[in-house]
Amino acid sequence: MKRSPVKITVVGAGAVGSTLAMRIAEKGLADVVLLDIYRNIAAGKALDILDASPVIGHEQGITGTDDYSEIKGSRIVVITAGLPRKPGMTREELISKNAAIVRDVAEKVKANAPDAIVILVTNPLDTMTFLAHKVTGFKRERVFGMAGILDGSRFTQLAAAELKIPRSSIKALMLGSHGDTMVPVISQTRVSGKPIKDMLKPEALDRIIKRSRDRGAEIVGLLGTGSAYYSPSAAVLPMIEAILNDTKETLVVSACLDGEYGLKGLAIGVPCRIGSSGIEKIEEMPLAEEEKKAFLASAEAIKKTIELL
Ligand code: LAC
Repeated sequence: MKRSPVKITVVGAGAVGSTLAMRIAEKGLADVVLLDIYRNIAAGKALDILDASPVIGHEQGITGTDDYSEIKGSRIVVITAGLPRKPGMTREELISKNAAIVRDVAEKVKANAPDAIVILVTNPLDTMTFLAHKVTGFKRERVFGMAGILDGSRFTQLAAAELKIPRSSIKALMLGSHGDTMVPVISQTRVSGKPIKDMLKPEALDRIIKRSRDRGAEIVGLLGTGSAYYSPSAAVLPMIEAILNDTKETLVVSACLDGEYGLKGLAIGVPCRIGSSGIEKIEEMPLAEEEKKAFLASAEAIKKTIELL
Protein backbone atom coordinates (compact mmCIF):
# COMPACT_ATOMS: atom_id res chain seq x y z
CA MET A 1 0.00 0.00 0.00
CA LYS A 2 1.32 3.47 -0.88
CA ARG A 3 1.84 5.87 1.99
CA SER A 4 -0.63 8.78 2.11
CA PRO A 5 1.08 12.06 3.08
CA VAL A 6 -2.12 13.37 4.69
CA LYS A 7 -2.28 13.93 8.47
CA ILE A 8 -5.42 13.28 10.50
CA THR A 9 -5.78 13.87 14.23
CA VAL A 10 -8.09 11.78 16.39
CA VAL A 11 -8.76 13.39 19.77
CA GLY A 12 -9.65 10.81 22.39
CA ALA A 13 -7.81 7.49 22.62
CA GLY A 14 -10.75 5.58 24.05
CA ALA A 15 -12.39 2.69 22.25
CA VAL A 16 -13.90 4.76 19.41
CA GLY A 17 -10.84 6.97 18.91
CA SER A 18 -8.24 4.22 18.95
CA THR A 19 -10.31 1.94 16.70
CA LEU A 20 -10.77 4.83 14.29
CA ALA A 21 -7.03 5.58 14.33
CA MET A 22 -6.41 1.94 13.42
CA ARG A 23 -8.99 2.00 10.63
CA ILE A 24 -7.56 5.20 9.10
CA ALA A 25 -4.00 3.88 9.12
CA GLU A 26 -4.91 0.39 7.94
CA LYS A 27 -6.85 1.81 4.98
CA GLY A 28 -3.79 3.88 4.08
CA LEU A 29 -5.80 7.11 4.32
CA ALA A 30 -3.41 9.18 6.44
CA ASP A 31 -0.79 9.37 9.16
CA VAL A 32 -2.59 9.61 12.48
CA VAL A 33 -1.97 11.68 15.58
CA LEU A 34 -3.88 10.06 18.44
CA LEU A 35 -4.25 12.64 21.18
CA ASP A 36 -5.54 12.13 24.71
CA ILE A 37 -5.13 13.87 28.07
CA TYR A 38 -3.89 10.44 29.19
CA ARG A 39 -0.71 10.62 27.16
CA ASN A 40 0.52 7.14 27.95
CA ILE A 41 -2.74 5.52 26.84
CA ALA A 42 -2.51 7.36 23.51
CA ALA A 43 1.18 6.54 23.13
CA GLY A 44 0.70 2.88 24.06
CA LYS A 45 -2.20 2.38 21.66
CA ALA A 46 -0.30 4.16 18.87
CA LEU A 47 2.67 1.81 19.32
CA ASP A 48 0.35 -1.19 19.31
CA ILE A 49 -1.36 -0.09 16.06
CA LEU A 50 2.05 0.67 14.54
CA ASP A 51 3.41 -2.77 15.42
CA ALA A 52 0.64 -4.35 13.33
CA SER A 53 1.56 -2.35 10.22
CA PRO A 54 4.04 -4.83 8.70
CA VAL A 55 1.47 -7.62 9.09
CA ILE A 56 -1.38 -5.55 7.66
CA GLY A 57 0.92 -4.07 5.04
CA HIS A 58 0.66 -0.30 5.31
CA GLU A 59 3.23 2.48 5.64
CA GLN A 60 1.29 5.08 7.67
CA GLY A 61 2.72 6.64 10.83
CA ILE A 62 0.82 6.80 14.12
CA THR A 63 1.85 8.84 17.13
CA GLY A 64 0.21 9.10 20.52
CA THR A 65 0.48 12.35 22.44
CA ASP A 66 -1.16 14.86 24.78
CA ASP A 67 0.55 17.80 23.09
CA TYR A 68 -1.64 19.88 20.80
CA SER A 69 1.36 21.37 18.99
CA GLU A 70 1.60 17.96 17.28
CA ILE A 71 -1.76 18.36 15.53
CA LYS A 72 -0.46 21.26 13.38
CA GLY A 73 -1.17 20.75 9.69
CA SER A 74 -3.95 18.20 10.22
CA ARG A 75 -6.29 18.01 7.26
CA ILE A 76 -9.05 16.61 9.48
CA VAL A 77 -9.51 16.51 13.27
CA VAL A 78 -12.00 13.94 14.59
CA ILE A 79 -13.21 14.64 18.13
CA THR A 80 -14.17 11.47 20.01
CA ALA A 81 -13.13 12.67 23.49
CA GLY A 82 -15.72 12.40 26.23
CA LEU A 83 -17.51 9.94 28.45
CA PRO A 84 -19.61 7.10 27.02
CA ARG A 85 -23.06 6.27 28.37
CA LYS A 86 -23.60 3.89 31.28
CA PRO A 87 -26.43 1.34 31.07
CA GLY A 88 -29.81 3.11 31.40
CA MET A 89 -28.47 6.57 30.49
CA THR A 90 -29.58 8.65 27.51
CA ARG A 91 -26.95 10.34 25.34
CA GLU A 92 -28.33 13.72 26.51
CA GLU A 93 -27.41 12.94 30.13
CA LEU A 94 -23.74 13.19 29.12
CA ILE A 95 -24.05 16.86 28.30
CA SER A 96 -22.45 18.62 31.25
CA LYS A 97 -19.27 16.54 31.36
CA ASN A 98 -18.87 16.20 27.60
CA ALA A 99 -19.65 19.86 26.85
CA ALA A 100 -16.75 20.90 29.11
CA ILE A 101 -14.44 18.44 27.33
CA VAL A 102 -15.52 19.41 23.80
CA ARG A 103 -15.27 23.12 24.62
CA ASP A 104 -11.67 22.67 25.77
CA VAL A 105 -10.73 20.47 22.80
CA ALA A 106 -12.38 22.85 20.29
CA GLU A 107 -10.41 25.82 21.65
CA LYS A 108 -7.16 23.91 21.26
CA VAL A 109 -8.06 22.71 17.77
CA LYS A 110 -8.83 26.29 16.79
CA ALA A 111 -5.43 27.43 18.06
CA ASN A 112 -3.36 24.58 16.61
CA ALA A 113 -5.15 23.36 13.47
CA PRO A 114 -7.00 26.44 12.21
CA ASP A 115 -7.46 25.06 8.69
CA ALA A 116 -8.71 21.58 9.62
CA ILE A 117 -12.11 20.12 8.92
CA VAL A 118 -13.57 19.01 12.25
CA ILE A 119 -15.73 15.90 12.61
CA LEU A 120 -17.58 15.38 15.90
CA VAL A 121 -18.30 11.95 17.35
CA THR A 122 -18.75 12.81 21.06
CA ASN A 123 -22.31 12.56 22.45
CA PRO A 124 -24.83 14.10 22.63
CA LEU A 125 -23.70 14.32 19.04
CA ASP A 126 -25.80 17.08 17.51
CA THR A 127 -25.34 19.39 20.50
CA MET A 128 -21.58 18.79 20.60
CA THR A 129 -21.37 19.57 16.87
CA PHE A 130 -23.17 22.87 17.37
CA LEU A 131 -20.93 23.68 20.36
CA ALA A 132 -17.71 22.95 18.44
CA HIS A 133 -18.91 25.14 15.56
CA LYS A 134 -19.49 28.02 18.00
CA VAL A 135 -16.25 27.58 19.96
CA THR A 136 -13.94 27.19 16.95
CA GLY A 137 -15.70 29.91 14.97
CA PHE A 138 -14.91 27.78 11.89
CA LYS A 139 -17.41 28.06 9.06
CA ARG A 140 -20.21 25.51 9.36
CA GLU A 141 -18.97 23.83 6.17
CA ARG A 142 -15.93 22.69 8.20
CA VAL A 143 -17.61 21.43 11.40
CA PHE A 144 -20.05 18.54 11.31
CA GLY A 145 -20.92 15.34 13.13
CA MET A 146 -21.08 11.61 12.46
CA ALA A 147 -24.31 9.80 13.28
CA GLY A 148 -26.62 9.32 10.30
CA ILE A 149 -24.24 6.90 8.62
CA LEU A 150 -24.12 4.78 11.79
CA ASP A 151 -27.89 4.87 12.33
CA GLY A 152 -28.50 4.07 8.65
CA SER A 153 -26.00 1.21 8.77
CA ARG A 154 -27.75 -0.30 11.79
CA PHE A 155 -31.13 -0.09 10.04
CA THR A 156 -29.71 -1.59 6.84
CA GLN A 157 -28.13 -4.49 8.69
CA LEU A 158 -31.33 -5.29 10.60
CA ALA A 159 -33.61 -4.95 7.56
CA ALA A 160 -31.33 -7.11 5.40
CA ALA A 161 -31.32 -9.83 8.07
CA GLU A 162 -35.13 -9.70 8.29
CA LEU A 163 -35.53 -9.89 4.49
CA LYS A 164 -32.66 -12.39 4.08
CA ILE A 165 -31.12 -10.34 1.30
CA PRO A 166 -27.65 -8.82 0.83
CA ARG A 167 -27.04 -5.66 2.90
CA SER A 168 -25.80 -3.93 -0.24
CA SER A 169 -29.29 -4.00 -1.77
CA ILE A 170 -30.73 -1.63 0.88
CA LYS A 171 -30.17 2.09 1.02
CA ALA A 172 -31.51 3.36 4.36
CA LEU A 173 -31.82 7.00 5.33
CA MET A 174 -31.83 8.17 8.97
CA LEU A 175 -32.17 11.89 9.61
CA GLY A 176 -32.73 14.06 12.68
CA SER A 177 -31.05 13.71 16.03
CA HIS A 178 -28.66 10.91 17.01
CA GLY A 179 -31.00 10.14 19.89
CA ASP A 180 -34.40 8.78 20.71
CA THR A 181 -36.05 11.10 18.17
CA MET A 182 -34.01 9.98 15.14
CA VAL A 183 -36.11 9.89 11.96
CA PRO A 184 -36.06 6.90 9.63
CA VAL A 185 -37.08 8.19 6.20
CA ILE A 186 -39.07 5.15 5.16
CA SER A 187 -40.63 6.98 2.20
CA GLN A 188 -37.17 7.15 0.58
CA THR A 189 -35.85 3.74 1.66
CA ARG A 190 -35.53 1.33 -1.25
CA VAL A 191 -34.74 -2.36 -1.45
CA SER A 192 -33.27 -3.09 -4.89
CA GLY A 193 -35.22 -0.10 -6.15
CA LYS A 194 -38.55 -1.03 -4.53
CA PRO A 195 -40.06 0.92 -1.59
CA ILE A 196 -39.27 -0.96 1.65
CA LYS A 197 -42.92 -0.54 2.70
CA ASP A 198 -43.87 -2.98 -0.08
CA MET A 199 -41.40 -5.59 1.21
CA LEU A 200 -42.02 -5.61 4.97
CA LYS A 201 -45.20 -5.79 7.04
CA PRO A 202 -45.79 -2.67 9.20
CA GLU A 203 -45.09 -4.65 12.42
CA ALA A 204 -41.75 -5.88 11.11
CA LEU A 205 -40.81 -2.41 9.90
CA ASP A 206 -41.72 -0.87 13.29
CA ARG A 207 -39.68 -3.50 15.09
CA ILE A 208 -36.62 -2.77 12.91
CA ILE A 209 -37.00 0.98 13.35
CA LYS A 210 -37.22 0.63 17.13
CA ARG A 211 -34.29 -1.77 17.30
CA SER A 212 -32.04 0.46 15.17
CA ARG A 213 -33.01 3.52 17.19
CA ASP A 214 -32.24 1.70 20.45
CA ARG A 215 -29.18 -0.17 19.16
CA GLY A 216 -26.67 2.09 20.93
CA ALA A 217 -28.41 1.48 24.28
CA GLU A 218 -28.74 -2.26 23.55
CA ILE A 219 -24.95 -2.47 23.11
CA VAL A 220 -24.27 -0.30 26.19
CA GLY A 221 -26.47 -2.69 28.20
CA LEU A 222 -24.62 -5.75 26.94
CA LEU A 223 -21.12 -4.34 27.42
CA GLY A 224 -21.76 -3.11 30.96
CA THR A 225 -18.98 -0.54 30.61
CA GLY A 226 -18.48 1.60 27.53
CA SER A 227 -20.53 1.93 24.37
CA ALA A 228 -20.37 0.74 20.77
CA TYR A 229 -17.11 1.44 18.95
CA TYR A 230 -16.62 -0.86 15.97
CA SER A 231 -19.58 0.55 14.05
CA PRO A 232 -19.23 4.19 15.20
CA SER A 233 -15.55 4.24 14.16
CA ALA A 234 -16.39 2.58 10.81
CA ALA A 235 -19.09 5.17 10.14
CA VAL A 236 -16.54 8.01 10.23
CA LEU A 237 -14.57 6.54 7.30
CA PRO A 238 -16.99 7.45 4.47
CA MET A 239 -16.87 11.06 5.67
CA ILE A 240 -13.06 11.09 5.71
CA GLU A 241 -12.85 9.44 2.29
CA ALA A 242 -15.39 11.88 0.78
CA ILE A 243 -13.22 14.78 2.00
CA LEU A 244 -9.82 13.36 1.02
CA ASN A 245 -11.01 12.15 -2.42
CA ASP A 246 -13.36 15.09 -3.02
CA THR A 247 -16.10 12.64 -4.00
CA LYS A 248 -19.05 15.05 -3.51
CA GLU A 249 -21.00 12.07 -2.23
CA THR A 250 -24.26 12.70 -0.38
CA LEU A 251 -23.93 11.47 3.20
CA VAL A 252 -26.10 12.07 6.24
CA VAL A 253 -24.10 14.20 8.67
CA SER A 254 -25.05 16.43 11.58
CA ALA A 255 -24.86 19.91 10.03
CA CYS A 256 -25.41 23.37 11.50
CA LEU A 257 -28.51 24.68 9.75
CA ASP A 258 -29.02 28.28 8.76
CA GLY A 259 -32.53 28.34 7.36
CA GLU A 260 -32.54 24.97 5.61
CA TYR A 261 -35.66 22.96 6.52
CA GLY A 262 -36.89 26.21 8.12
CA LEU A 263 -34.43 25.74 11.00
CA LYS A 264 -31.54 27.72 12.53
CA GLY A 265 -29.35 27.65 15.62
CA LEU A 266 -28.80 23.89 15.85
CA ALA A 267 -26.99 20.95 14.26
CA ILE A 268 -29.09 18.02 13.06
CA GLY A 269 -28.68 15.01 10.77
CA VAL A 270 -29.43 15.91 7.13
CA PRO A 271 -28.11 14.70 3.78
CA CYS A 272 -25.10 16.76 2.70
CA ARG A 273 -22.82 16.72 -0.29
CA ILE A 274 -19.31 16.19 1.10
CA GLY A 275 -16.13 17.13 -0.75
CA SER A 276 -12.67 18.53 -0.16
CA SER A 277 -13.96 21.67 1.57
CA GLY A 278 -16.36 19.76 3.83
CA ILE A 279 -20.10 20.33 3.43
CA GLU A 280 -20.55 21.64 -0.10
CA LYS A 281 -24.34 21.56 -0.10
CA ILE A 282 -27.10 20.75 2.38
CA GLU A 283 -29.73 18.76 0.47
CA GLU A 284 -33.35 19.53 1.31
CA MET A 285 -34.99 16.11 1.07
CA PRO A 286 -38.64 15.78 0.21
CA LEU A 287 -40.20 14.17 3.30
CA ALA A 288 -43.60 12.57 3.83
CA GLU A 289 -45.91 14.62 6.08
CA GLU A 290 -45.36 12.46 9.21
CA GLU A 291 -41.60 12.36 8.56
CA LYS A 292 -41.53 16.15 8.38
CA LYS A 293 -43.36 16.30 11.73
CA ALA A 294 -40.96 13.81 13.28
CA PHE A 295 -37.98 15.77 11.93
CA LEU A 296 -39.25 19.03 13.45
CA ALA A 297 -39.90 17.27 16.78
CA SER A 298 -36.34 15.95 16.66
CA ALA A 299 -35.07 19.50 16.05
CA GLU A 300 -37.06 20.68 19.10
CA ALA A 301 -35.46 17.98 21.24
CA ILE A 302 -31.96 19.05 20.11
CA LYS A 303 -32.77 22.71 20.82
CA LYS A 304 -33.78 21.77 24.38
CA THR A 305 -30.40 20.09 24.86
CA ILE A 306 -28.57 23.10 23.37
CA GLU A 307 -30.31 25.31 25.97
CA LEU A 308 -28.51 23.29 28.67
CA LEU A 309 -25.09 24.39 27.37
C1 LAC B 1 -24.07 4.67 19.71
C2 LAC B 1 -23.34 5.72 20.46
C3 LAC B 1 -21.92 5.75 20.11
O1 LAC B 1 -25.03 5.01 19.00
O2 LAC B 1 -23.95 6.97 20.28
O3 LAC B 1 -23.67 3.51 19.82
